[in-house]
Amino acid sequence: MIMERTFSIIKPDGVKRNIIGKILAKIEESGLRVVATKTMHMSRREAEQFYAVHSARPFFGELCEYMTSGPVVVSVLEGKNAVASYRELMGATDPSKASKGTIRAEFGLSIGENTMHGSDTLENAAIEVAYFFSGTELVNSAK
Ligand code: TYD
Repeated sequence: MIMERTFSIIKPDGVKRNIIGKILAKIEESGLRVVATKTMHMSRREAEQFYAVHSARPFFGELCEYMTSGPVVVSVLEGKNAVASYRELMGATDPSKASKGTIRAEFGLSIGENTMHGSDTLENAAIEVAYFFSGTELVNSAK
């Protein structure tokens, strides 16, 4: 088992519905630790850069519009196999296809408004953490 860090976003639909605490509680109950977290409102440029890998996809414009429609909560999560275990906790991209007990199954509204983002690889996790957090915002977790 390897200790990893991953990057999470509670998307605008989660923040709007006032379920930040419920979601963070699920994350903590799963054994992951929140090592940094903050609320922010992404600019169009930040959203486009963050989702640049999807820039050629038909949903790109709508995705960026949505991600900038209200505040989000960005977090760094730490734990054993954090990248894979957080992807499992989030569930499938489309909430209607997400397994029971996952965050997207419980809270997701649609494939676009699916409440959560989680890094898909360790390499992308490091890039995404560095994109939203500075070194001084990242504390060492309690062991
Ligand atoms: P993707 O990286 O495929 O999924 P995930 O978030 O599970 O890693 O897609 C990024 C986001 O783009 C996804 O969370 C929601 C949005 N999206 C759509 O709006 N429509 C789609 O058909 C897909 C595949 C994604």
